[in-house]
Amino acid sequence: MDFAGWLLLADLMHEDVERVLITEEVIEKRLGVIAKKIQRDFASEEQLQVVGILKGALVFMADLLRRVPLRLEIECLNVASYHGGIESTGRVDFLDQKLPEVKGRCVLLIDDILDTGQTLEAVSRRLIKMGAREVKTCVLLTKDKPRATEVEADYSAFKIEAEFVVGYGLDYGGRYRNLPYVGVLKPNVIK
Ligand code: XMP
Repeated sequence: MDFAGWLLLADLMHEDVERVLITEEVIEKRLGVIAKKIQRDFASEEQLQVVGILKGALVFMADLLRRVPLRLEIECLNVASYHGGIESTGRVDFLDQKLPEVKGRCVLLIDDILDTGQTLEAVSRRLIKMGAREVKTCVLLTKDKPRATEVEADYSAFKIEAEFVVGYGLDYGGRYRNLPYVGVLKPNVIK
């Protein structure tokens, strides 16, 4: 595809967005603040084990961790709870055959969003069961709503209303993860 064709496709993606909730510039500034906190809080860890939840945490994690100059070991975990829709199914499926080795380690668990809390709760529980010494959690977004389970993130970049959002790693039907901001889709785009 030539450059003009690519631009046309990019425009189409942005056209599906009704509102931008958090701009790229605002995200960038906030990541600096969160990264400094993480650096300060884990400065005494010889090697911090980071576990990112795929695929939603991909963009957030890549941008955040490049601002943390600690000796990190980065692993990812494939987990599904939305199964393509706009509401959590409440079922957290671990999709990997093999989970990261975390025995005796302090783990920083990263996800895109804290919604019902079931994903962070299920993954934290699993990591502790696998022998992690401690699990701290970090999310880009926290939805302002009651949780299905008693869990809050140790680090959260932004609090948002309880509405379905896309962009900066978050998808609808596998799309929009590459939007550089967090936004709300037009109602006619959501089937
Ligand atoms: P829970 O309910 O387990 O949800 O805290 C966490 C996972 O659900 C997905 N999720 C969303 N995905 N827009 C999305 O694209 C949203 O508004 C949204 N809310 C929750 C996400 O995969 C997250 O890891």
